[in-house]
Amino acid sequence: MKTVRIRVRGGAATSTVFCRKHALKALQASHPELQTAGALIFTDTNVFSLYKGKIGRTLGGLPVFAMPAGEEHKTEKTLFSLLTAMKEAGLRRNSTLIALGGGVVGDIGGLAASLYMRGIRCIQVPTTLLSQVDSAVGGKTAIDFEGVKNLIGAFYPPQEVYVDPVFLHTLPHTALKCGLGEIVKHGALYAPIFARLNAQPDLFDLDFLAGIVPENVAFKASIVKQDPFEQGLRRCLNLGHTTAHAIELTSGLSHGECVLWGLIFESKLAARHCSVDEAFLRELTLLAQRALEAEALPPLTALSARFDKKNTAEGRVTLTVPVAAQKYELLELPFAQYEEELKKIGEELC
Ligand SMILES: NC(=O)c1ccc[n+]([C@@H]2O[C@H](COP(=O)([O-])OP(=O)(O)OC[C@H]3O[C@@H](n4cnc5c(N)ncnc54)[C@H](O)[C@@H]3O)[C@@H](O)[C@H]2O)c1
Repeated sequence: MKTVRIRVRGGAATSTVFCRKHALKALQASHPELQTAGALIFTDTNVFSLYKGKIGRTLGGLPVFAMPAGEEHKTEKTLFSLLTAMKEAGLRRNSTLIALGGGVVGDIGGLAASLYMRGIRCIQVPTTLLSQVDSAVGGKTAIDFEGVKNLIGAFYPPQEVYVDPVFLHTLPHTALKCGLGEIVKHGALYAPIFARLNAQPDLFDLDFLAGIVPENVAFKASIVKQDPFEQGLRRCLNLGHTTAHAIELTSGLSHGECVLWGLIFESKLAARHCSVDEAFLRELTLLAQRALEAEALPPLTALSARFDKKNTAEGRVTLTVPVAAQKYELLELPFAQYEEELKKIGEELC
């Protein structure tokens, strides 16, 4: 695999994403100053137990802070524990926080880096498929707060991101599906990714996934560059996500599975309300079903989409729905109607 270098320009800051093998070695070689200027490796307990040896061989000598793994720890408690660890490690203004883990580690790490001494350098090493194709690109950082996902955060792009396919080998199947949810979403918005996905018999093949990561990073970078602070275009990346969040809150399915279901449901909603390319939506639905491996439909009772913070007005819900290849529309519906239509679509799909 040759090294792919992608610039992500977003607002005042630019990130460089390196997609390559032996990423930790490359990081260490490019930054001899880490030992003298100070750095802390922030990770989670799962990643640390799997990659302790590799971290030791490449970034050995740097202090490590490992949070308990899982979204339920994406809290102010973890954020402040990390800030304390950064202080105890003696980090200064020219020091670096290395966030090595999935999207949870990346989101908390980025936020902590933005706050510590009003902002120190952050380098991300994303270790899940989702974080490699999505969360490590674009500079959004956050913690969940008072039951609301990503309520407290900042736009704070990492200076560099090191994406290494080696990390995909230890991921559980569900984590691959999580990443695939976002990749299929990118495919709905960008025809070359859609074509590659449709031509691939096994969507879970690790070589295929490693090969498609750089194109996904480049696609997301192109959107972020045009709309770094999500004022307009970047909302296209919410495709399928309003319904995905509604399903996620009630079904117990993983985020990626919910995104795939969200794309299926919102394709059907789009067909009811917008002028659509039906053949494309059929293809998108088939692709999402392949990535879902035809699992049973989640129960659609007690949908909670009204708590999605992207809703525009009380009692109404705004969805970013797919309508044709590389095309989406913003669809606003009264919540009660949205809920009713989702139930009908759910019955039709059964
Ligand atoms: N900032 C953004 O733009 C953005 C975009 C999408 C999602 N997100 C956020 O990302 C988070 C989800 O990210 P995620 O799916 O990576 O979840 P995660 O970080 O919780 O990782 C999922 C699980 O995989 C484990 N893991 C990580 N790397 C591994 C590896 N190489 N091998 C084996 N296990 C490994 C983790 O310990 C964890 O248990 C959510 O909090 C979401 O809000 C942020």
